[in-house]
Amino acid sequence: MASPDKTALSRRALLSGAAGSAALATVARADDPAITGMQEWNQYLGDGVDAAPYGVPSEFEADVVRRDVPWLTADPVSSVNFTPLHKLEGIITPNGLCFERHHAGVALIDPAEHRLMINGLVDRPLVFTMEDIKRFPRENKVYFLECAANTGMEWRGAQLNGCQFTHGMVHCVMYTGVPLRYLLEEAGVKTNAKWIMPEGADASAMTRSIPLEKALDDCLVAFAMNGEALRPEQGYPLRIVVPGWEGNMWVKWLRRIEVGDEPWHHREETSKYTDLLEGGKARRFTWEMDVKSVITSPSPQAPITHGKGHTVISGLAWSGRGTIDRVDVSLDGGRNWQTARIDGPSHDKALHRFYHEFDWDGSPLLLQSRAVDSEGWVQPTKDALRAVRGTESIYHNNSIQTWHVRDGGEVENVEVG
Ligand code: MTE
Ligand code: CO
Repeated sequence: MASPDKTALSRRALLSGAAGSAALATVARADDPAITGMQEWNQYLGDGVDAAPYGVPSEFEADVVRRDVPWLTADPVSSVNFTPLHKLEGIITPNGLCFERHHAGVALIDPAEHRLMINGLVDRPLVFTMEDIKRFPRENKVYFLECAANTGMEWRGAQLNGCQFTHGMVHCVMYTGVPLRYLLEEAGVKTNAKWIMPEGADASAMTRSIPLEKALDDCLVAFAMNGEALRPEQGYPLRIVVPGWEGNMWVKWLRRIEVGDEPWHHREETSKYTDLLEGGKARRFTWEMDVKSVITSPSPQAPITHGKGHTVISGLAWSGRGTIDRVDVSLDGGRNWQTARIDGPSHDKALHRFYHEFDWDGSPLLLQSRAVDSEGWVQPTKDALRAVRGTESIYHNNSIQTWHVRDGGEVENVEVG
């Protein structure tokens, strides 16, 4: 265990070693108006307690918002926007910043009018009100949700300039919900049942086939995220949580679960959400999200502005197969690797935060991160992924991302194989 002395020592060593010639702060000066002057906020009373009954971020954080890509948004009701990963810290995504993906817009549902039906191969078809659902035992679990199409625009080459756009179809929140197995047990699943099909109450009536084994294992019927009710965008009042599996299966505005003995082969698991290979064959039922990571800062929307010297690299890693065991960081496009520091809680099938601190000499960098999960899966290079899957797919691109840091500190999306 580190004694306080040792901690102080190692911190001093880090600062002097890492900072090199440049200090990490300026020496205090008597003529600095930011220290000696009167600011507006010293002279006037601030807002009272009820100025914002539901609090919002500081106006100086106004650029921390979800953004879309205009050429991907022919119509906002069937589109996507992206989480501003480059501005976030830790592992939890604030509710108002979770990326949105809708096939038919946001359904606005009165929870008093909402019902969940379980039918098909069950002993007793049942209908639950929201109140009924909240009488079952609940669990709190932190999980990431990643759209299968996340990073999909990067299959053929570096395209979108910012991790918000290349990797921002992921969010990670704490869900409160009822294990789906309790509801299925209540209905009594017949012995020949093998699949379930959740259905959304929105105009797209989203449906996906999910193996019963997964449904009984760790799926939740969730009504809260990060301590408050689901946001309308995320499926208020009810969504299914399918830990580690592609986002499309996490049906929002959940109104029905059919139990069956074979998959339904609906649109979203035949013409969509299958992975086209070279030669026209497609992989399907590729549910698990593979091990992946990305450096969120520095990145194209978060350049280095402080000049050379001590620099913090921050990033996210995740795997649909478990936790993250290790993240390596390269400053030179994958020639040399160093082990990054994972900090914060390590939840199964959740985002993990990693850091790597180094002394930047001001010369160009090719930043990469490579994650290894608890099952031993290693994030592949783009070339390695393409060798197996070609370039026709949009889904399940978990390859290593490269950011080119120029000598001025600007950052761009590039590819080094
Ligand atoms: N569920 C319904 N009912 N309708 C939808 O359009 N989109 C799916 C899934 N569930 C969708 C849905 C897709 S493709 C993804 S990636 C996730 O929801 C997105 O979840 P989010 O909007 O909470 O980020
Ligand atoms: Co999706």
